[in-house]
Amino acid sequence: MNPSATTASAISLNVDLGDRSYPIHIGSGQISAANIAQYIQGKKALIVTNTSIAPLYLRALTDQLQGVQIDKVILEDGEQYKNLENLNKIFTAMIEGQHDRKTTLIALGGGVVGDMTGFAAASYQRGVPFIQVPTTLLAQVDSSVGGKTAVNHSLGKNMIGAFYQPQAVIIDTDTLSTLPDREFRAGLAEVIKYGLIADAEFFAWLEQNAQALLDRDSKALAYAIQRSCINKAEVVSADETEQGIRAILNLGHTFGHAIETFQQYRGWLHGEAVAVGMVMAAQLSALAGNMAAEDVERTKNLIALCGLPTQFPENMSRDDFMALMVRDKKVLDGQLRLVLLKGIGFATVSADFELNWLEQVLT
Ligand code: NAD
Ligand code: GLY
Repeated sequence: MNPSATTASAISLNVDLGDRSYPIHIGSGQISAANIAQYIQGKKALIVTNTSIAPLYLRALTDQLQGVQIDKVILEDGEQYKNLENLNKIFTAMIEGQHDRKTTLIALGGGVVGDMTGFAAASYQRGVPFIQVPTTLLAQVDSSVGGKTAVNHSLGKNMIGAFYQPQAVIIDTDTLSTLPDREFRAGLAEVIKYGLIADAEFFAWLEQNAQALLDRDSKALAYAIQRSCINKAEVVSADETEQGIRAILNLGHTFGHAIETFQQYRGWLHGEAVAVGMVMAAQLSALAGNMAAEDVERTKNLIALCGLPTQFPENMSRDDFMALMVRDKKVLDGQLRLVLLKGIGFATVSADFELNWLEQVLT
């Protein structure tokens, strides 16, 4: 995929999905510069955001939408609010505001706001258009692209949702300047994921440039976001609804989701849980004879270098993991399937592992 330059500091990519294709605009100042209004089809829009992001970026966004009737829903902030109860607040506001099928929803926030808004858009009156304006690193490199939308259930992560693509993704890299360090590091986990599953050259670049990223060097960041989005767009374009290859984007997630669910979405951040999950997937891949010990070490080292956990929570037992992992969405016909690595840059989805390897990793 060849990115096209729009302005000196912005580039645009395309997620190629036939009549559901859409652009990703990446760059500094994009909330103001990307002409978001062009993606609004009717006269009304409803912006969904949360109590932390609204004071920072809501005004800048609404300023770009003169002439459009704007309603707003400001949700409580946190993964523990990504549920049906809070989703209903979006529907209530839409019905009260007499929003019809031409209304556009706009998600202004991280992955929680993006996933909830996307699911609201997928289901309100059987579907209205929506735009993603991601403001966390994790959302900019992963959750805003690809059309996975969902809410959590107390018994399982992202259990209720739909595949539903946005009209556009507007990535304003300036928003990362206000992102807390811990959230920023959590986003790096999903960046590292692309290197591990499909892009060994990018993984090596990350090893060299981890400190520049942690320092939020704007050039390094723009490159990492762009390269992550290119990787994600390629996989999504090949397999929109995860019939096959798209599952590799879930490297580490089966372990990670088990951690998040165990902690009832109030403990580790998604990216932190995925980070340790990727280490566990690498260890399992080594036990399966597919990954050299040296590559497991490189994986662990890069994750540690980015300030992310490499050991699962001490209070989680093997049985805790197993009880939660059997509910994973990759379980088919009762068989647990995991994303495993065949070295750095190559991933595969496999049910072909011995239970005792899994037990070793979970001990
Ligand atoms: P998040 O949405 O909870 O945001 C993290 C925190 O940062 C929140 O407190 C938020 O208010 C705050 N924040 C957001 N932008 C900010 C900014 N610019 N400045 C200051 N604070 C800001 O978490 P996340 O890591 O963005 O997303 C995690 C969620 O994404 C999980 O629910 C996960 O399941 C989901 N996810 C979905 C996909 C997908 O494909 N749909 C992929 C990966 C993750
Ligand atoms: N984050 C996993 C996916 O988009 O498929």
